[in-house]
Formats: sequence, structure tokens, C-alpha cells
Amino acid sequence: MTTIAFFNNMGGVGKTTLVYHLAHMLVELGRRVLMVDLDPQSNLTAMCLPEERLETLWADDNGTRPTVLGCVRPILRGLGDITDPHIEELRSGLALVPGDLGLSRFEERLSDAWPRALDRDEAAFRTLSAFHRLARRAARQHDADLTLFDVGPNLGAINRAALLAADHLVTPLAPDLFSMQGLRNLGPTLIEWRRAWTDRLDRNPAQDLELPLGTMHSAGYLVMQAGMRLSRPVKAYQRWVRGMPGLYHEQLVRDGITPSSTDQDPYCLGIIRHYQSLMLLAQDAQKPMFMLKPADGAIGAYTQAVARCRDEFRKAAETVAGRVGGTA
Ligand SMILES: Nc1ncnc2c1ncn2[C@@H]1O[C@H](COP(=O)(O)OP(=O)(O)O)[C@@H](O)[C@H]1O
Ligand SMILES: [Mg+2]
Repeated sequence: MTTIAFFNNMGGVGKTTLVYHLAHMLVELGRRVLMVDLDPQSNLTAMCLPEERLETLWADDNGTRPTVLGCVRPILRGLGDITDPHIEELRSGLALVPGDLGLSRFEERLSDAWPRALDRDEAAFRTLSAFHRLARRAARQHDADLTLFDVGPNLGAINRAALLAADHLVTPLAPDLFSMQGLRNLGPTLIEWRRAWTDRLDRNPAQDLELPLGTMHSAGYLVMQAGMRLSRPVKAYQRWVRGMPGLYHEQLVRDGITPSSTDQDPYCLGIIRHYQSLMLLAQDAQKPMFMLKPADGAIGAYTQAVARCRDEFRKAAETVAGRVGGTA
């Protein structure tokens, strides 16, 4: 059972779309996959479920919402520990722990708990490990080989708890200034979070509590063309892509190696093209782009794009799975 968080502190690079497509592809490749939507924006959940289902999930019923928020709500209210997570079966082998727009309320609770863990406060450890424990429980329930976290684009307390709960970190990178600058902030932040968590681990008073190790190994990056403004000149694009291996190694791998190109870099896990209006068809059909059929409107030139998309995501999914291990 392996957990991968997909994270980049820039929004709009195509992270949620990537998690959704990789999850479906990994299932086609024979893995059992669980997705956990830890982004309060809940875009992944909205992509996965029809609107009528979302309405019932998010109906305000004072405490029993079958979402991540429902699961951590007892902690939020100071009334105890997480409840058993609800998992939504999407297709055979694929499940989702639904996100919740109200999850942002947990941010402050996590921020408060962070310093209190240094004082050996048991409740603080329960709070900080809530995502880890809910994901583990849900993964056991689903018998998942791989658990994928989708998170929001910032370096706040929710994401700190989410990333510390992950075994591996995959970074979708858009070839532009913002995404690359984001990587410069991410490197030092991860080092600090790992160090600070190690300091805290020793002070856990509750030996029975299942805590994450907080090692979050940097597994690699995917080049996302999705976030690019279409007007951007090809030259600028190439320049940013050329800079990616060096910057990724400098910030996240720290092995002193600068591969000469993404082709030469084992940390480059794939390149995901911008599929333009194919994505709109996929949204209408509520399925991955590579599963679109003529009946969904995927005719003419779209047929080729669907095949190419399938190919690209298969390669990326195989590379990611190979990189993180996990049972087949
Ligand atoms: N490969 C792609 N091809 C076409 N459109 C994409 C692709 N990836 C993402 N998009 C679109 O780009 C927008 C941002 O993607 P999203 O996955 O929500 O990004 P993030 O989660 O990083 O904020 C969405 O409208 C999405 O439909
Ligand atoms: Mg997103």
C-alpha cells in the first residue's frame, strides 16, 4: 500500500486532471486505486461524481457527511477522533474519499496542533495524523495498492499534514516562470517539514497511534503543457523545459546531478499534452479523455487525440507505478 501526493504550490497546472486520469489508467493496468480529495476546492470530487450525488454528499446534516470533513469532524469539534471514512466506489478497482468545501475549517485546527505536538500533547498528534490515518483506513477498506492524494496549491497546514502523510511526492510542473519559482519555495519547505516532523515524532505520548513517518520521498515530476498559455512562444517553452531537470534535482533530489534533458532524467515521469477541447468532451461525458467513444462526440480528429492521450497516460502511469513500487 503506497501513498502518492500530487503537489505543486501553483494552481491551474492540471494537477487534479492528472490525478483523475492517472487513477483511471492505473486501474486499467490492474492496480486497485484509492483517491483522496484533500483540496477544500474539491474539484476532483466534482469531476468524479454527478451533481445529484454531490448535493447529497454535501447536504448540511450536522456531522455525518460522508466526506473527509465528516471523517475529521469529531476532532474539529473537540469531541474525539476520526470516524471510519466513507469510500465512494467509482468503478471496479477505483474508489474516492470525497472532498469537502468545508475542509478549510480544519486548517486552523492543524495550525494550532503543530506547536502543541512539541509539548507532547496527544490531541495534537491525533489532529496532525488525521489525514494519514483516514487514508490508511480507507485504503485498507478498498484494499488499495495505490492511494493518490489531490491537494490544493499552497504551503498551508492542510497541505503540510497531507504531504507528511504521503510516502511519495509527485510534482506536476508547467514550463513557466510561476511553476518553476514554486519549485524554489517547495524544496526548502519540504526539508523543514520533514525535519520538524521528526522532532515531533519522538514526543508522541500515545504509542498506539498510527503516525506517518513524514519521509515523503520526491518521486519525480511530470511536464504539464496543460497550464501553458497557448500564445506562449515555443522557444520560451523549450527554455523552461530544459531548466526543469536541473532545478528539480537542485531543489528536491539534492544529489548534485544535473541531467542534460528530461529524456536523460529518471525523475521526469512523463509529459502531458494540452488536449484542448477533448477535455471539454470528457467533462461532459464524466469520464477520462482516453475513454471517450464516438457516442460521446469523440469522432473525426478526436479519435486520434483519444488514442494519443491513452498512450501518453499509459506511459506516465507505468512510469509512476514503477517509480513508487506498490503491489501489483
Ligand atoms: N491535459 C489537459 N488538456 C486539456 N485541458 C486540461 C488538461 N489538464 C487540465 N486541463 C484543464 O485546465 C484547467 C485546470 O486544470 P486542473 O486539473 O483543475 O488544475 P489544478 O488542479 O492544478 O488547479 C481545467 O479547466 C482543466 O479542465
Ligand atoms: Mg486542483
